[in-house]
Amino acid sequence: MLVNLSAMLAAADRGKYAVGGFNITSLETALGIVAAAEAEQSPVILQISEKTIDYMGLDVAVAIAQTLANRVTVPVAVHLDHGKNFELCEQTLKAGFTSIMLDVSQMPKNERIPFVKGFTTRAHRLGITVEVEEDVIGGREDYVRGEAGHFTDPARAAVFVRETGCDCFAVSIGEAHGKPLPNEKLDLDLLCEIDRTVTVPLVLHGASSTPDEVIREAIARGIRKINIDTDLRLAFTKQLRETLKQEDVYDPRDELRPTIASVESVVREKMRLFGSSAQAR
Ligand code: G3H
Ligand code: 13P
Ligand code: ZN
Repeated sequence: MLVNLSAMLAAADRGKYAVGGFNITSLETALGIVAAAEAEQSPVILQISEKTIDYMGLDVAVAIAQTLANRVTVPVAVHLDHGKNFELCEQTLKAGFTSIMLDVSQMPKNERIPFVKGFTTRAHRLGITVEVEEDVIGGREDYVRGEAGHFTDPARAAVFVRETGCDCFAVSIGEAHGKPLPNEKLDLDLLCEIDRTVTVPLVLHGASSTPDEVIREAIARGIRKINIDTDLRLAFTKQLRETLKQEDVYDPRDELRPTIASVESVVREKMRLFGSSAQAR
């Protein structure tokens, strides 16, 4: 069932858990994520990045996410992840997303608040939720990269959220996208300060490979949406490599079917860790 992200995160805030934002990189990852949500009776956020849009097309990516969302009774949000191409972000307002992330970390500082405020006003008229990243998050994936060290300033973040009217805020507290960096460590004290000053739900990016106890502590300190991509790619690739060892398998369906279960298994573990299992209503 397609739902609005704000309502989903408000429920997470009341229940003191986090909802997973899982990236779709293929039909199989999407099938695995939605199967996990149904098996765990968990709300879920299907995330579509700009690279996925380049890979399969905006129409196909949204059609897959919406079709799967409408197949199940658990709440599903369809989310644009790291919108940095602002022409594309405009298109996504009319494409069927229930939420859009604006990544303004590369935009000149003086342009950020007016742009996000204008975009958020238009999104809200269409019932669409807006997440914003203002400070660069470290690490790298294909279309998303940044140097670590630009941590969120709690006072500035509070002003940014108040003036733009955005609905959720991606913190930068030392996390990194992709495989773990050697010195990756979350500043959980800073997270507490951000949670005290910022009134909207907080989002943690780059959460693959983050130790379970750190994730639990981040949720206790106010994180309500947690983004996972790399751990799903690793599970998919490991399974595919294993299957391809069998030389008599040469049907893409037989090669890819086991990857769906591998992704589902990782997503189910994350949902239990985030406390979103059995929270579907
Ligand atoms: O945060 C980044 C996401 O994992 C998307 O990565 O641009 O390689 O699809 P991608
Ligand atoms: P990871 O690939 O590190 O899990 O990050 C995912 C993410 O932040 C998507 O926005
Ligand atoms: Zn991210």
